[in-house]
Amino acid sequence: MKNKSIKIERRAFLKQSGQFAVATMLMGLGTSKLFAALSSSETNISIPTVKLNNGLLMPRVGFGTNTLKGDIGIRSVSDAISVGFRLIDTAHIYGNEEFVGEGIKRSGIDRKELFITSKLWVDFAGYESTKKAFETSINKIGVDYLDLYLIHRPKGDVKGSWKAMEELVKAGKIRAIGVSNFTSEQLEDMKEYAEMQPAINQIETHVFFQEKDSYPYLQASETQMEAWSPFAAGRNGIFENETLASIGKKHNKSISQVCLRWHFQRNVVAIPRSTNKDHMIENLNIFDFELDEVDMKTISTLDLNRTQFPEWT
Ligand SMILES: NC(=O)c1ccc[n+]([C@@H]2O[C@H](COP(=O)([O-])OP(=O)(O)OC[C@H]3O[C@@H](n4cnc5c(N)ncnc54)[C@H](OP(=O)(O)O)[C@@H]3O)[C@@H](O)[C@H]2O)c1
Repeated sequence: MKNKSIKIERRAFLKQSGQFAVATMLMGLGTSKLFAALSSSETNISIPTVKLNNGLLMPRVGFGTNTLKGDIGIRSVSDAISVGFRLIDTAHIYGNEEFVGEGIKRSGIDRKELFITSKLWVDFAGYESTKKAFETSINKIGVDYLDLYLIHRPKGDVKGSWKAMEELVKAGKIRAIGVSNFTSEQLEDMKEYAEMQPAINQIETHVFFQEKDSYPYLQASETQMEAWSPFAAGRNGIFENETLASIGKKHNKSISQVCLRWHFQRNVVAIPRSTNKDHMIENLNIFDFELDEVDMKTISTLDLNRTQFPEWT
């Protein structure tokens, strides 16, 4: 029954996403990753999903919440869900898990429809402290399990944290576990002790930082790549970039849509943040056009191959 519904979802996605998705799968990009689609609400947009290395389906576009706190945070999360976002990305260090939880509650949507991610901050690295930090996070969000829990940064006792996270998966408290800001070498190191390989590596990537080292590694591995700051948080004039604007004009799409479509066509899950409901809707309207080879090549020339957030490294 489960397999049957996955097959139906997969057919719906293939129909919608057209040749690129087919070509991508045939080319074997992200070989262990299968794709499907989930339908949404107010906008009626189906968000394609990716099958993670443990079989869990994850929406390929989600909603980022860094800096979203208080009433704006609650309203933004609730608006994002109402327009169709189902993946919500938060973290202990954002100091907003309770606001995210309140936004979820106000949306009125069934918890099971959502894909909620939170992250373990570096101060809590280690076996015991990871278990405690996880409990604190789910209590703040007001849920009894997480869909995805990530080690936020590769610092401290990663091995101890990972063991605790694997146990939380086995106990049914987390559906998938992964990491964030890990290099390919750090992922390779984990293979020595990890019983479960990371389902996700969430890293900085956008048109100005295309991760030419990590990208091929992750595409060939069973770890799905997820983009944080898919718009470089607006830095380096991304929303005024003439190259992106002219590609957008050709497809009758905005710069944000060109950027998100670019992530999508690279098989990268993106989690744009917004406080503006029109922007949220715009950010979901990316499944009805396709960037061609020339567009993709042109965008590859925008790469500066460096972070836009030097203050965080
Ligand atoms: N793992 C990590 O270490 C890490 C680090 C950083 C971020 N993250 C995650 O990644 C998420 C996204 O990154 P981010 O928050 O840094 O920034 P981002 O999503 O790259 O950019 C957000 C900015 O884009 C604007 N924007 C959004 N949609 C737009 C549209 N359609 N047209 C014009 N402007 C638009 C927003 O303004 P408006 O509000 O006006 O729309 C906001 O100023 C975070 O929220 C967080 O969940 C993770």
